[in-house]
Formats: sequence, structure tokens, C-alpha cells
Amino acid sequence: VSLAPLHTFGLDTKAQRLLAISDLSQLHALNDKPYYILGEGSNTIFLEDYEGSVLQVKLSGIEVQQHEHHFDVSVAAGENWHALVQKLMSAKIFGAENLALIPGTVGAAPIQNIGAYGVELADLCHSVQAIDLQTGEKLSFTNSECLFGYRDSVFKRQEMSESLITAVVLRFPKGRPVSAEYGELKLLGPDPSPYDIFNKVVEVRQHKLPDPRVLGNAGSFFKNPVIANEHYLLLKDSWPDIPGFRVGGEQTKVPAAWLIDRLGFKGKTIGGVACHANQPLVLVNKGNGTSADLLGLARQIRDDVLAEFAIELENEVRLVGEKGLLRL
Ligand code: FAD
Ligand code: EPU
Repeated sequence: VSLAPLHTFGLDTKAQRLLAISDLSQLHALNDKPYYILGEGSNTIFLEDYEGSVLQVKLSGIEVQQHEHHFDVSVAAGENWHALVQKLMSAKIFGAENLALIPGTVGAAPIQNIGAYGVELADLCHSVQAIDLQTGEKLSFTNSECLFGYRDSVFKRQEMSESLITAVVLRFPKGRPVSAEYGELKLLGPDPSPYDIFNKVVEVRQHKLPDPRVLGNAGSFFKNPVIANEHYLLLKDSWPDIPGFRVGGEQTKVPAAWLIDRLGFKGKTIGGVACHANQPLVLVNKGNGTSADLLGLARQIRDDVLAEFAIELENEVRLVGEKGLLRL
């Protein structure tokens, strides 16, 4: 089976078998090892032919429960995230507007705790339902059991690798104030409505981020590194305009886009893969890119950032080789 149409970076690789999961009963009889659980492939790059089955999560259904002070919305894992955000906006259920236009499925959203424009899934998530594919046992995780962090959750741990998320329950308190603190959102007038936020986020994202249907990509390729405050202050001596955001008391998050931009990588191309000119944290497949092109460029960025700033960039995208997840 060709994997090119199944992941947004679009490399020309293959898997042994593809199994679309549209009903939970299919999971009980599952006898397909090894497997890779896939949503819409917008955070996965299949670098090599995968020697196993791809389980494509297609579970569907959305249920809304209205309570006195909040809405609970239970969403099956295969639903598209942005379509959900649009439905919530139409139903006047607010709180997800900052996360508009993030590609992918609802079931993948907890994996890396999707986040953008000052909000992350952790702020909306009430609980996550999953199934242990080994034992068939149903699992349920409260928000705190999900151990959400920056681009992180319990679901990334090795011991969770056999668990498939089946549904996510989102909770929206009524009358929660909007979040308009991140970057361009500050430019909105006073008292922006959730619709103003939604429209602005869509506008900014459409301007900065390449549309995967036009130019293959998987969003940010690297995570924004979090470094010790002392390290940050040292860098500031040599690079006075280096941006940084305090996280907790002792650490600072530095935009990887700035580091990569500063080293002159914008527009840099190896074969068919390039560093995007509007957002250098995004690597793009110009159509004929290969795994070797991508690895060549990504490793060069990683090595140069390490040499210049003594910061180790970590890939944010899941890289899949013939046996499963790979490191850069
Ligand atoms: P996939 O790539 O299919 O899977 C991602 C990971 O989740 C894999 O490890 C997979 O095994 C696992 N997985 C998927 N579904 C399940 C399931 N049901 N159960 C268990 N494991 C599962 N992300 C952000 O956080 N913020 C952004 O602003 C953002 N912007 C993006 C912009 C662009 C243009 C693109 C292409 C990507 C962007 N991303 C962003 C990344 C991506 O949208 C998210 O990571 C999204 O959650 C991926 O969903 P998916 O269904 O495509 O996941
Ligand atoms: N910057 C530059 N040059 C550029 C672009 C950005 O120097 O060309 C610097 C600027 O200092 C800017 C900073 O980088 O202020 C941050 O840029 P941006 O607001 O575009 O966000 P980001 O840190 O690059 C993160 C997420 C995105 C998310 C945006 C908005 C990560 C790895 N990425 O990007 O998520 O949409 O914030 O919240 O945290 C994704 O995960 O795939 C993704 C796109």
C-alpha cells in the first residue's frame, strides 16, 4: 500500500497492509503485528517502507451534553479536528477557537497535546478513552492522568504504545473568557469575540503555514527547545535579540524558528526538500523530495544549531522507519 497519500509530507513509501478502523469491534479481533496507529498523518513522516500494518483510525461520532455551567462534548477519535472546531463555533460552544485549522484527527490531539495561539488541548480535555490492543481492556484517563506537557503526554510513553485512543471528552465551561494573549491576537481590538479569535487564527495560519494539500509538510519539524535560564542569559550576551519565554522558574523556551532563521536556513533546499521561507520551523516537500533529502536538511539544521547555540533540537514530528519510530 502506498503511504504517500496517507501522510501530509507525502514521501513515496509503502506499508505491508492498511486497515481502516471504523468500528470498535474490529479491534477485538486484531491480529496484525507490528502496526502503526495513524490518524490523518499530519504529524507522521514515513521515511522508509514500513514492515507492518497501518491502522487508520476512522471512528466517527460527536455527542454534546449540556449541563448548567458547561458543555461536555464526546468525540470519536477519527473525527477531523478543524471540522470539530467549526461545529463547536456554529453551536456557540466556545473555547477551541485558538486551535482552529490544526490538521489531523481528534484521537491524535492528546498524543502531543496539540497547542497554538496560547491554548492547548490540556485546557479543554476532560478525559480520554482508549483501548489496550494487547488485552482488549478499555482504559480511561482523566485530564491529570494524561500528564500533559508541552508537546507531550502519557500517550507518548513506551508502555502506552499498544493503546489506541478511541474518544476524547472535551469540557467547555460556559462564559469562559477568551484567550487573546498570543502574538498577533494581541492586535485584535478590545474584548474580541471567539469568532474574532477564530478568524484571526485562520488568517495568520493561512499566511504563515504552507497548506499540505499544496506543499507537503508536517507542521513544525522541531520542538521549541527549553533551556536553563543561565544558558539563555549566556546566549543573550552574543545574540542580544534572542527571544525567550520563561517556563516555570528555572527554564526558558526559545523559538526554534528564530535559531534556524538566524543561521540563514530560510529557503535552503536539499534535493526536493526545503526550509519554508515564511516559517523556517516547517520543512516542506516540493513534490519530489526523498527521505535522504529530508534527513540531510534536518540533520544539518540540528547540527548547526548545536554548534552555534549549544542547543539540541528534538524532532516534533514522528519519524517512522521500517520497524517503527526512529530518532533523527
Ligand atoms: P498522525 O500523524 O496520524 O499521528 C500522530 C501521532 O499520534 C502518531 O504517533 C500516531 O501513532 C498517534 N495516533 C494517532 N491517532 C491515534 C489514536 N487514535 N490512538 C493512539 N495514537 C494515535 N500541531 C500542533 O500541536 N499545533 C499546531 O499549530 C500544528 N500546526 C500544524 C500545521 C500543519 C500545516 C501541519 C501539517 C501539522 C500541524 N501540527 C500542529 C501537527 C498535527 O496537526 C498534530 O500533531 C495533529 O494532532 C496530528 O493529527 P493526525 O491525525 O494527523 O496524527
Ligand atoms: N521567528 C523567526 N523567524 C520566522 C518565524 C518566526 O525568528 O520566520 C521567531 C519569532 O521570534 C516568533 C517566534 O519565532 O515570535 C515564534 O514563531 P510562531 O509564532 O510562528 O510560532 P512557533 O514557535 O514557530 C509554535 C508551534 C506551532 C504553533 C505556533 C502558534 C511548536 C513546535 N510549534 O510555532 O505549532 O502553531 O507556535 O502557537 O511549538 C506544529 O506543532 O506543527 C505547529 C505548527
